[in-house]
Amino acid sequence: MKSKIHISVGVASILALAGCRNDMHDQPRYKPLAAADFFSDHRASRPQVDGTVARGHLRIDEARYTGKIAGEDIDQFPIPIAKADIEWGQTRFNIYCTPCHGKLGDGNGMVVLRGYRQAATYYSDKLMKAPVGHFFDVITNGFGAMPSYASRLEPDDRWRVIAYIRALQLSESAKITDVPTDKRQDLPVEPAPRGIAPAGGAPVAGTPNAPPAAAPAREGGR
Ligand code: HEC
Repeated sequence: MKSKIHISVGVASILALAGCRNDMHDQPRYKPLAAADFFSDHRASRPQVDGTVARGHLRIDEARYTGKIAGEDIDQFPIPIAKADIEWGQTRFNIYCTPCHGKLGDGNGMVVLRGYRQAATYYSDKLMKAPVGHFFDVITNGFGAMPSYASRLEPDDRWRVIAYIRALQLSESAKITDVPTDKRQDLPVEPAPRGIAPAGGAPVAGTPNAPPAAAPAREGGR
């Protein structure tokens, strides 16, 4: 009895719905890439007007997006570089470049140690003097055995990686006198490698590499 009522309600609503107008189902529209008689080339999907640029993809700044001006590599960063940019560049460098160039940028990354073609060291005379635009070109288009990294690094991130490479290059020849006196105590104290005596005898107390004058005695430890 109960189920009979259910069925008749169902049938009634199907009949009622069938009576609805169908306009929204039959819209005058074309399916993507369908043929159309309306246009002379019979393409329903219209080609883009020449010079169309997707929103957010307008790249008229030649230096910023090619690293060149009139075909010449630029030697000034085309975007402002702050400390945060260098730090971000370091993270990208460590992800994308160290497998071949190594963390130090000397070209001896793990992939190279396992037999890949020797990657370039950033400390060669050529690359120390190379303009930043050259690095941009190498990352964008690849170089010799090195593939392009354009699909993994947005143009501005390429500049940030290059800023970090410049910092690496600077650090290679940096002297303690390059560090402002009030910042020297912030330098990390690196212990001498085990089993190797520090060159030139024991470190002088008060220099950045010397251990603290009085190491606090540890309690309860061994
Ligand atoms: C898959 C390994 C590999 C990775 C990853 C890699 N490189 Fe290279 N790179 C090379 C090799 C190999 C060379 C030397 C090319 C040659 O001699 O054929 C090179 C050369 C270079 C050069 C020197 C070009 C010149 O003018 O001599 C630069 C600069 C450079 N790479 C930057 C980078 C940067 C920046 C990254 C990260 C975005 C990177 N590379 C990632 C393998 C790599």
